[in-house]
This record gives sequence, C-alpha cells and structure tokens, in this order.
Amino acid sequence: MGSFRENGTQLDISTRIKLNNGVEMPLFGLGVFQAKVGGEVENAVKTALNHGYRKIDTATAYRNERGVGNGIKMSSIPREEVFLTSKVRNEDQGYHSTLAAFEKSLDELQTDYLDLYLIHWPRGKRSLGTWKAMEELYKKERIRAIGVSNFLEYHLEDLLRTSEVIPAINQVEYHPELLQPELYDYCKSRGIQFQAWRPIMQGKVNNIEEICALADKYGKTPVQITLRWNVQKKIPTIPKSVKEERIISNADIYDFQLSKEDIQSIDKLNKNKPLVPYQYKISFLIRALFIHKPKLHLTKLLVHSFTKKTQKAFYYLFYKRYYLLFLVDINSSIDWGGQPIF
Ligand SMILES: NC(=O)c1ccc[n+]([C@@H]2O[C@H](COP(=O)([O-])OP(=O)(O)OC[C@H]3O[C@@H](n4cnc5c(N)ncnc54)[C@H](OP(=O)(O)O)[C@@H]3O)[C@@H](O)[C@H]2O)c1
Repeated sequence: MGSFRENGTQLDISTRIKLNNGVEMPLFGLGVFQAKVGGEVENAVKTALNHGYRKIDTATAYRNERGVGNGIKMSSIPREEVFLTSKVRNEDQGYHSTLAAFEKSLDELQTDYLDLYLIHWPRGKRSLGTWKAMEELYKKERIRAIGVSNFLEYHLEDLLRTSEVIPAINQVEYHPELLQPELYDYCKSRGIQFQAWRPIMQGKVNNIEEICALADKYGKTPVQITLRWNVQKKIPTIPKSVKEERIISNADIYDFQLSKEDIQSIDKLNKNKPLVPYQYKISFLIRALFIHKPKLHLTKLLVHSFTKKTQKAFYYLFYKRYYLLFLVDINSSIDWGGQPIF
C-alpha cells in the first residue's frame, strides 16, 4: 500500500503515535462493533491484518472477542504485532468484577495481555473501582495502556482526582459532524489522546455534499476523504467493515494529501451532533426497563425522569452543548444486558 510524505513525516498504515506512557499505538485500525462471531468477525480481522492493519478494536459488549482472537490466529500476523483493544462493559464495572471481566476477555481473545483496555462508558463512582482494578492490572504489566471511552470533562475530573495513572486514551464519537473541540482541548492539555469511534458515520459521510465534492477533487471516495482527514489530524481511528473490498479501500488513503484549506473545510462541517438519535436512546431505555432487571431499571428511570426532562429542556435551549451530555448520562445509567447499541 502506498504512502505519502507529509511535512517531512511519512504517513502510512503502519504510522504509530506515542501515548502518554510511551507505548506506541497505530493511528489506523479496524473496529468490529456488530461484526458477528461464526465467520464474519474472524474473516474481517484476518483480512484486515493481512492487508496491513495492526490495530483491532473490540469490546466485551460486542460479544465477539472469541472471534477476534480466532481471526488473529487465522491471519499471518503474530499476536505481538497486533495492537489489541477491549473494553469493560457497564455491567462489569467495579473493582472485583473488572478483575474477573479482564480474565474472561483474555480467555476469549486467547491472549495473555491486552495492548489497551478501556472503560466503555462512565458509570459514576463504580468507574473509580473499575479504574483501580485497571491500574493494578497495568502495574502488573497485564495491559500495556489503560484508558476510558465516552468520558466528558466532568467524568475525567472525577477520575483524575483519585487516579494514580492518567488515562492514555479517551475514545469518543468523532467525525465531521461531531468534533467536540472543548473536550479535545481538555484531553490534550492533560496528555489524554483522543481516539475516534464511528469515524465514517456508519457510511453516512457518503451523503455529505461537501465531502463528495472533495472526493471528486481528489479522485477518492467520501469515506477515504474522511479517513484521510482523520489521520492527517493525527486522531487515531478505527473504521469498521466486514467486507473485504471495503476493508482494503478504507485503508487506501496514503497516496494523497488533503490541503490545509480542505481540512479546515471539513472541520467547518462540525455540528457537535452525535449520530445516535435521541429517540433510539429513549426506546432502548424503555426496552431495558421491561426486559432486564425491571426493579433496578424502574428505580433508575424514576430517578432519571427528572433529569431527563431537565436535560430535554437544555437540549432545546443549548442544543450543541447539552445534547451530548444528555446522551452520555442516559447510556451510563443502564446495564445493557441485551444487545449493546455501541
Ligand atoms: N467506545 C464506544 O463507545 C464505541 C462506540 C461505537 C463504536 N466504537 C468502535 O468504533 C468502531 C467504528 O465505529 P462504527 O462501527 O460504529 O461506525 P463506522 O466505522 O463509522 O461505520 C461502520 C459502518 O459503515 C459501513 N462501511 C464501512 N466501510 C464503508 C465504506 N467504504 N462505504 C460505505 N459503508 C462502509 C460498515 O458496513 P460493512 O461492515 O457492511 O462494510 C458499517 O455498517 C466500532 O466498530 C467499534 O470498534 C466504539
């Protein structure tokens, strides 16, 4: 696969960035959310690794860790060359349950260490216990780097007050319509690396007029333009696909370079708008209430009905700033139990 010289540095699929503990992580990798065990995820991981990808992002909540482990074994790439990430799901949070969940993940992934382990979603005080367990595992060198996901500034403030290890990563939804500049600056000032999830908006970048125009200009696809924008900004990214041709073409972004002006024009598309619609969250909450642990969820729903109304008002009044906060609060308050939506 080609590469392109940029400001004296060569960007290619093997380009790595240094995390705050010195560990080097590939800038580009494969996400496997919703990739099914039993062929799909195994083939996706194998194909990606055989085509130069060196980072795989999974999570216990995706229920495909075993398939990811099999895919790595099926590829021609040794485990130590793969940067492997998993995440602690909501229901496993807390000190003891995190320690147990970590061992289970290793067993599923058929490995004896992780490169990166993340708290999938903030869960109030329980996340402090989760972090303690992760710090211990990190100190014992069972994990090369530890981090968080979907943490807003106040979640990070809470964590940093008691933590010994500063998170290496905050993995957040990030794409042309959601840049979260304040959170980005906050993380940067504390040495916490942003990582993008849902980077191609699940294919919806193909419908953004300005990105399509750039695709025509550079002779690439809108997805490739978006991913190139991502890596040129040095934001680690993990586009997902289970289709061989897309896995290959998504990584074919190293034979051209976006101009500064074109990068800025994509930046201007920011609406600070998460892709997950508000209605989906509400219907998921209702599903969680009726299907899983009804009493627990009833209590939580009652507690949340006040905040929900308040935050809905904020949504209309201060749309950009509070909408994200609202989504994170709702998602953090529930155990997924069934199918995760992230
Ligand atoms: N930390 C978190 O809370 C969190 C949340 C969400 C996601 N993530 C991680 O981030 C990864 C990426 O996010 P995501 O999977 O939600 O979204 P994404 O990578 O933006 O998009 C994936 C979707 O786009 C399709 N796609 C892939 N390449 C395409 C192309 N070239 N043209 C058109 N469509 C294409 C895929 O379908 P096919 O597979 O059929 O190609 C899939 O439906 C996840 O897989 C997961 O590892 C983390």
